[in-house]
Amino acid sequence: MRTPVIAGNWKMHNTVQEATDLVRELKQNLSGIEGVEIIVGPPFTALCAVVSELGGSNISVAAQNVFWEEKGAFTGEIAPGMIKETGCSHAIIGHSERRQYFGETDETVNKRVKAALSAGLIPIVCVGETLEQRESGNTMNVVKKQIKGSLDGFTPSDFDSIIIAYEPVWAIGTGKTASPDQAQEVHKFIRNTISEIAGRDISQNMRILYGGSVKPDNVDEIMQQEDVDGALVGGASLKADLFTRIVNFKK
Ligand code: PGA
Repeated sequence: MRTPVIAGNWKMHNTVQEATDLVRELKQNLSGIEGVEIIVGPPFTALCAVVSELGGSNISVAAQNVFWEEKGAFTGEIAPGMIKETGCSHAIIGHSERRQYFGETDETVNKRVKAALSAGLIPIVCVGETLEQRESGNTMNVVKKQIKGSLDGFTPSDFDSIIIAYEPVWAIGTGKTASPDQAQEVHKFIRNTISEIAGRDISQNMRILYGGSVKPDNVDEIMQQEDVDGALVGGASLKADLFTRIVNFKK
């Protein structure tokens, strides 16, 4: 009942030329695929080129961040309206690399999500614990705090537009994936937390993606988990053949 989402987070990879080449291949490989929402997330500089290349295809485009003000003296930031104007439909918000290296907090994530929604962008809101937090038994507390803080003050219709990505920090770019059971446990917990905040119906419809070293050889098991509704893919989204296989996961 929840349409799966496979989203590629390209991070700081691909020039305009490389991005165009990659999506040209993806567009061919993935045409005709139904029942999965497919998203790619290029760097800001390649958004226009990628959107234009993908026009009329079944692949949507996400920005990797969005600022919360519409305009002003905010050197280096990009406004929601500017992202929307490129033809993007989604924005990844609160990725752990932003939290870790650029001072992102639940409060700033909350502001960005609000601004993205007002501009008509679908936020993909990232949460996840570090290795230290997992080993000290704090995974659920950390994730609950991130969900509550990041999604504070939203209406039911806002919740309908939000996608969540659970990405354990220790699994990102490390080749270590959460086991299917570990992923399912946290995904279920997130769905219960959403149910507490926004009600059962909204929580049942919410797509919760798993992220962290998703590859062709582990995507099937992960996607078989009841509360896993898709994947946010970093490294493996940079290669057309790997991303194609991931989109064609077997449930
Ligand atoms: P990874 O990245 O697939 O390279 O681990 C996932 C992410 O950070 O979104």
